Amino acid sequence: MAPVSAPRDMVRGTGPGTGPGTGRGTVRGVVRVPGDKSVSHRALIFAALADGISEIRGLLGSADVRSTAGVLRALGVDVPAFTAASAARPLRVSGVGLRGLRAPVTDLDCGNSGTTARLLAGLCAAYSFPARLTGDASLSRRPMRRVADPLRAMGATVRCEAGDGLPMTIRGAGSAIRGIEWENETSSAQVKSAILLAGLAGGVPVTVRAARASRDHTERFLAALGAPVRAEAGAVTLAPVERLRPFTLDVPGDPSSAAFFAALAALAPDGEVELPHVLASPTRDGFFRALARAGARVERRDEGTTAAGEHTVTYTVRSAPLRAVTVTPDEVPPMLDELPLLACMAARATGPGGAPTVTSISGAAELRVKESDRIAVTVANLRAIGVDAEERPDGLVVRGSGRPLRGQVRSAGDHRIAMAFGVLAALPGSEIVIDDMACVDVSYPGFWADLARLTVP
Ligand code: S3P
Repeated sequence: MAPVSAPRDMVRGTGPGTGPGTGRGTVRGVVRVPGDKSVSHRALIFAALADGISEIRGLLGSADVRSTAGVLRALGVDVPAFTAASAARPLRVSGVGLRGLRAPVTDLDCGNSGTTARLLAGLCAAYSFPARLTGDASLSRRPMRRVADPLRAMGATVRCEAGDGLPMTIRGAGSAIRGIEWENETSSAQVKSAILLAGLAGGVPVTVRAARASRDHTERFLAALGAPVRAEAGAVTLAPVERLRPFTLDVPGDPSSAAFFAALAALAPDGEVELPHVLASPTRDGFFRALARAGARVERRDEGTTAAGEHTVTYTVRSAPLRAVTVTPDEVPPMLDELPLLACMAARATGPGGAPTVTSISGAAELRVKESDRIAVTVANLRAIGVDAEERPDGLVVRGSGRPLRGQVRSAGDHRIAMAFGVLAALPGSEIVIDDMACVDVSYPGFWADLARLTVP
């Protein structure tokens, strides 16, 4: 893992690379981050199920969203090809209706994407054909029982070939599908969405309860398309509906991607970054609220509401001395994917006069079953660059300081780990080598170029 000349590899995002540092520490610019990953998956799925042609602009052209498109194509939907570069052009998808999917003749390859596997498993449960879902090595290790159990309760036959993961074969219940009321023990949005999609395509009522509110894009989108969905404290209910209407959507920017530049602006000695058109529902803006609580100057200007029922804002974030924060279990869901980044930021949070202070995150055991074990990998990497950090079974503890950050980081093939440490690598004085930078392509193919553009040499 030899350090290579930084800017060129940073821009290409391939192979190992070092952060360029920011010279004097000036960070400036405007980034319109790519479309939200969760909304992009759902936009393709609802366009596929609608009666008529939908038009989607700003779709995230990442590997994960292309996995969803590939699976929908295998199920008989004509989804045109798209890339990160074609996001500005509208993508037209001709929907096949709620009951119009066809039996696949190939495996359904979900790549690295848990959202693809779980949401489309839900959809397949409402049909009577057999479907075999597969994924890469990382996705094959992730738990699928959480969706298999409710789908079985609805009448589907679900078989995992090895333990709890992919490959997974589903033979849906077809017209024998049953409605359910389900307790979603992990408060997972993917599980909730799988059940809602099975109920939607199967024409049966479903209710999903959970202790904590997870991201609510599926129910917002359904409501915006005229479906009879009711969300109340702790429960979402969907009643049967005959058809979904097609839509025209400009996908809002991904707050999980915007978070990296917000953190960079906050941490840099002289930072100011503007982030327009970012999705800002209360189920997704937790990182920005935590950033403000840590002392960063975070300004939020309302923009309006999109056709998917999502509110968007422009964030402007400016640097300030950061202090430690405590993240409690109730605060975890709205910043679930940003927690590795928050832990990285905590490495630089200090008390009065630069005294070390402690950031702690609890109630986040779910991080252990993401694209990597994000608790173990984040802590190991923080220690590898000289930060005092410790694992807890359901979270972690980080002691901030002004010490220079130097060492080698292992992304474990996890995009959010690579980008979080990429932010620290871009700070002046840092000398951080990241082993695999290309893994960011699953959610943000242009990340390294955008990061390099913000840092003033
Ligand atoms: C997602 C839900 C979350 C999140 C993932 C995307 C979604 O996962 O971590 O990146 O689009 O529904 P869980 O449902 O496993 O919490």
